[in-house]
Amino acid sequence: MFVKNLAVVFSLTLVTFCNSSFIEDLPKCHLEDFDCLKDVYQTMIRKMGKEGLKEFNIPPLDPMKLTNVNVNVHNLVNVTMVDGIVKGIRDCVFDAFSIDIKEGRGHQENTCDLVIKGHYTAEASSDLIAALLGGSSIHGDGHAKVTVGQVHVKFDFPFYAQKRDDGEIYIKCNYDLVKYDYDIGGPFVIKADNLYLGDKESSKLITDMINQNWRILMTGFGQPFITKAIEEFYFKWSGNFFDKVAARHFIIEDLSPYARP
Ligand SMILES: *[C@@H]1O[C@H](CO)[C@@H](O)[C@H](O)[C@H]1NC(C)=O
Repeated sequence: MFVKNLAVVFSLTLVTFCNSSFIEDLPKCHLEDFDCLKDVYQTMIRKMGKEGLKEFNIPPLDPMKLTNVNVNVHNLVNVTMVDGIVKGIRDCVFDAFSIDIKEGRGHQENTCDLVIKGHYTAEASSDLIAALLGGSSIHGDGHAKVTVGQVHVKFDFPFYAQKRDDGEIYIKCNYDLVKYDYDIGGPFVIKADNLYLGDKESSKLITDMINQNWRILMTGFGQPFITKAIEEFYFKWSGNFFDKVAARHFIIEDLSPYARP
């Protein structure tokens, strides 16, 4: 145990002081060794989250900045994170990871605890709001913090071994064809100020209502937020790595027999 811990401390130290050794130090996996590949992914997310990969011009991604990120739900709710951050991605846990290079398909499952906070604006108007809260519209412009636990996402993704002009082979994923599904275990807690129901300051009333009914609300309203998070951020993140780090750095087998342009 001690020896193992020492090894961990040593490799962490190396990673900290010498960025390029991170790539060299990635676990090298057989194609069918999914536990090993899961470790590669987890190591990558941790490292990129905290420090980025300087030699590939990938900046640190956790906390991730959100600037004017807008989500509109069925034209009923319109929320914008004007200037904020998301924290927690680097601690996402990889519950499952597998790839089948012959079929060109992969499967991955993650669980993340996330905190999103910053300057928000929000507008909503509907009969539902009138019925539930006794006012016809909500608008807000202030500070908000959302803590959301146990976000569990499953991805099925098509990929292939791509041979590039540099002679290297990369894992190339077609993000447009990724299928995913999610559920949220919770807890889910939102805090916000400057939220108005009609012209009455009602931050507490509204956030209490959301917090007490978040499961139902996430079923009806959650999808666009999750879609945004996955398509705009998560894919860019993992795409950044697989687009820039050749497969030989983490896969032992020669992928030439599978490779195409
Ligand atoms: C949503 O809110 C943003 C920021 O206030 C605004 O720019 C955008 O036009 C709104 N979208 C809709 C559909 O109302």
